[in-house]
Amino acid sequence: MKKPGRNDACWCGSGKKYKKCHIDFDERIEEIEAAGHIVPDHSLLKTPEQIEKIKESAKINIAVLDYVAEHIRAGISTAEIDRWVNEITTKMGGIPAPLNYEGFPKSVCTSINDEVCHGIPSEDIVLKDGDIVNVDVSTNLNGYYSDSSRMFLIGDVSEDKRRLVEVAKQSLQEGLKAVKPWGFLGDMAQAINDYIKANGYSVVREVGGHGIGLEFHEEPWVSYVTEKGTEMCMVPGLCFTIEPMINMGKPEIFVDEENGWTIYTEDGTPSAQWEIQVLVTEDGYEIISY
Ligand code: MF3
Ligand code: CO
Repeated sequence: MKKPGRNDACWCGSGKKYKKCHIDFDERIEEIEAAGHIVPDHSLLKTPEQIEKIKESAKINIAVLDYVAEHIRAGISTAEIDRWVNEITTKMGGIPAPLNYEGFPKSVCTSINDEVCHGIPSEDIVLKDGDIVNVDVSTNLNGYYSDSSRMFLIGDVSEDKRRLVEVAKQSLQEGLKAVKPWGFLGDMAQAINDYIKANGYSVVREVGGHGIGLEFHEEPWVSYVTEKGTEMCMVPGLCFTIEPMINMGKPEIFVDEENGWTIYTEDGTPSAQWEIQVLVTEDGYEIISY
């Protein structure tokens, strides 16, 4: 960690002298690091100005998902959802972050039933009665990023799939109870994993969440199967996603060989995922996008 001199300007951009600003804060980080923990670099801690801009981005993200929630139904293709996302995002001044991201061909991910994540919208994929679908929206507004996803039930959905979707949603609340400043990402992960296991489901291990804000995917990589007291310290200013993928059956997955993106459950059982973007604050957390 690079530190300014006591009388130099603080690294946070407040304009105050370091000794009157983040000096004790940095000491706390150093103690945690000395105890063997992973700590974030200052560059990952969002300033109040950056937070405002990230929230502006999230306004678009939330509006897009609200629109999807109102209009999604049986009989529409996932390509139609992709058009909604692209049009609304663009009209509101943003850019859909997935579009061309590492070659991703569309503006949103739409993942149905046994698709775990990264489903590619298509005219050939038409939503039908009984489907469960994740719509994962990410926005870039003036270089500030937001990312969240929700599940949608199409028509008459079986009781076991409804329960999967509900438990996946509740797991975020269980995780949030463990998001506390100066705690660890593993606290949140274990809270989620324990809850999911108690409900008879499994958490995908290979795909996780991520830091976000100044880039779409920043450090840290966020697991939902690690243990309490491990992983990066949740220092105030850290912004990341909670987006566990929950399988009804076994946790194993595979990637679509043809498109190189879409991930499926190995055993063919349904999978559900909700995603929120969270900011760690001095006294708890704030939900930035949902
Ligand atoms: N929320 C998803 C993620 O962070 C969005 C992926 S967009 C894609 O993984 F372009 F990478 F597919
Ligand atoms: Co994400």
